[in-house]
Amino acid sequence: MLLRSARPLLLALSLRCAAAVAAPPVAVDLAVDRSAPIPPPATHHMGREIAQTMHYTGAPWLVRESRQREEDCRQLVEALEIRPGQVLCDMGCGNGFYTLELARRVGPRGVVYAVDVQPEMLHMLAERLTREGVRNVRPVLGTPIDPRLPPGVIDLVLCVDVYHEFSHPAAMLDRIRASLKPDGLLVLAEFRGEDPAVPIKPLHKMTKAQVRAELEPAGFRSAREFDRLPWQHLLFFQSGGANAVPPAHPRAAEPPK
Ligand SMILES: C[S@@+](CC[C@H](N)C(=O)[O-])C[C@H]1O[C@@H](n2cnc3c(N)ncnc32)[C@H](O)[C@@H]1O
Repeated sequence: MLLRSARPLLLALSLRCAAAVAAPPVAVDLAVDRSAPIPPPATHHMGREIAQTMHYTGAPWLVRESRQREEDCRQLVEALEIRPGQVLCDMGCGNGFYTLELARRVGPRGVVYAVDVQPEMLHMLAERLTREGVRNVRPVLGTPIDPRLPPGVIDLVLCVDVYHEFSHPAAMLDRIRASLKPDGLLVLAEFRGEDPAVPIKPLHKMTKAQVRAELEPAGFRSAREFDRLPWQHLLFFQSGGANAVPPAHPRAAEPPK
């Protein structure tokens, strides 16, 4: 009796395993144009010292067990108000701590571009996507000046603990702006620089004032703020504002009108 009732379950499980085995591994788009010159990295930007890129050997820290408690990641993602079918970018995705949850929220009709400058991070993410059968994420190798996103299609670009590491912030902001839909959002999560109780090195923190001072001249204006995370600012920006000029890399892939 027990055996007979278990049969459909076993069948379903074996079909699922067969599908997982048959599905091709998720590929990383590594087709960076190596001939494009990259200026030397800046050490400072608008009075702020730029932090070193977090090395991929530190990836286990990104999936540490205490992260939910320290960052309230569930509330962070909830505050993004993601809708099924949206096109998102997890910029500086690392090994994909946030990517998989974003993919789940946009669902099969949506897409998440997962961009990083370290191929090793993207390979860790791709392995995880393959293992978990997630098919709506596109891992993309970016360069420090070009995230290689398609122009004008992204609803929301999320940078969690990433912006302060950009070695070429102005170039990255310009490309991000070109990738957004007209009402698209750029969202930065940065550890609060104003708050000495946040136990993170000052180099890896930012104040709201510093973020605004850097994003406004780059053609972004503040859209809203979410102030209920334990350690981080969550700042939403839209393209536009007094200083907005067309991005230097406007919808380059579109045919001329
Ligand atoms: C501290 S980790 C955060 C990873 C991930 N956002 C998370 O919260 O788990 C910062 C990541 O940003 C990436 N990064 C730094 N500069 C970048 C750039 N210009 N474009 C894309 N990724 C970048 C680094 O390689 C690193 O994986």
